[in-house]
Amino acid sequence: MAQVWQKFLTVPHTLLRPDDQWYAWQMHSELQPYFQDIPLTDSLARDVTAVLTHHAFPKIAGHVARVATEAKRLAIQFGADEDGAETAGWLHDISAIIPDAARVELCATFGIPVLPGEAEFPMILHQKLSAVVAQELFGVVDPAVLSAIGCHTTLKAGASLLDKIVFIADKIKWDQPGEPPYLAELETAVTHNIDDACRVYLNYLWQKRDTLRYVHPWFQAAYEEMTR
Ligand SMILES: [Fe+2]
Ligand SMILES: [Fe+2]
Repeated sequence: MAQVWQKFLTVPHTLLRPDDQWYAWQMHSELQPYFQDIPLTDSLARDVTAVLTHHAFPKIAGHVARVATEAKRLAIQFGADEDGAETAGWLHDISAIIPDAARVELCATFGIPVLPGEAEFPMILHQKLSAVVAQELFGVVDPAVLSAIGCHTTLKAGASLLDKIVFIADKIKWDQPGEPPYLAELETAVTHNIDDACRVYLNYLWQKRDTLRYVHPWFQAAYEEMTR
């Protein structure tokens, strides 16, 4: 029998279910293998860190903490929802713990469309699945926050300010060793304009598209929309 969970949510009130306080819910059975060992507390930072370290992803735990801080900073700078930006930063890579081999089926379970290229390279599905986990497990209901999580790797056409902020925070505080090759140009651009910052990274990736294993159509659409 599935375990019934109870958690106390103290994440920003805009992210809560309308009737929330204490509530009990049953974790979706497909998510239980990955999340059932982690008791949720009143701290999103603590819970995300616990999940990622439990599954031996300490580097990603450090990365999402830095992205959360950077996203909040950018949200303050550009007048966006700072709590939403920070929440998206914490949760954007939470599905890293779900193995590639399980991702296509998990998307199907939650009714998430999977593109042929995504099925071939399921690493990229982590942006969509992190939004699923944010909603299912962490009670995030704000569509703007879920959108920002769901396109943080690729961006997309018609991206919102929050989408762009989380996208850029993820690129400034990247999860690779060393300094990103585009960092100086990106940091200069982001001091004055978030769209210019997006263009720096989109141009960088576009120029090396022939070396990518998969050119995601959301990325291509964002590039074409923002650089034409
Ligand atoms: Fe990511
Ligand atoms: Fe990330």
